Amino acid sequence: MTQDELKTLVGQAALQYVVPGDIVGVGTGSTVNKFIDALASMKDQIKGAVSSSVISTERLKAIGIPVFDANEVGELSVYIDGADEIDGAGCMIKGGGAALTREKIVAAQARRFVCIADESKLVQVLGQFPLPVEVIPMATRRITRQFEAMGGTVTLRLKDGVPLVTDNGQHILDVRGLQIRDPLAFESEVNQWPGVVTVGVFAHQRAQICLLGTASGVRVLN
Ligand code: 5RP
Repeated sequence: MTQDELKTLVGQAALQYVVPGDIVGVGTGSTVNKFIDALASMKDQIKGAVSSSVISTERLKAIGIPVFDANEVGELSVYIDGADEIDGAGCMIKGGGAALTREKIVAAQARRFVCIADESKLVQVLGQFPLPVEVIPMATRRITRQFEAMGGTVTLRLKDGVPLVTDNGQHILDVRGLQIRDPLAFESEVNQWPGVVTVGVFAHQRAQICLLGTASGVRVLN
């Protein structure tokens, strides 16, 4: 199976975690796009969605699913999203699509995080994938030096040759060369650096369930 087919497989498998009558939390990325496509078949059974990005909002609305502001609704039964890396404990690196801050907000609003990913995303130790960090632009240089002191190499994410601007009007740093052996402690530490909006380690908001697309079908990690 191709990686695209594996994404379709887990996108469809995630439907079983959507609670009829509820509002579902929806992440961002190519795997989530497969989930949104599959969700079209259930659109009359759910009240709507809370979305983690402008791009997912547009995709949901295009298939007729109402999108609510996070502040308009209470706790969500489930949040479904992809990952750039996930370890055996459900801790993840996210933010490859620059949506990490809203993803963490919607994940925190949900009782259960269901991660959907192809098997290439499963790792022993987080850090092979460049770690995305959303930052306030005026803090970029100082935060860069802090990661360099940890042994990381930092690049400012560009789009069309200029700094990428997130849905929240901020910038993204990508940090290479880290081995994140204690994701909870790492997330807690970096999150309190002034100017960090969100670090792309999801340990406090880890996935309770991961649907992993493999050549032999969907493997469930929980
Ligand atoms: C976006 C994310 C995505 O979930 C992550 O990048 C995985 O994306 P894809 O499903 O396209 O591989 O965190 O900010």
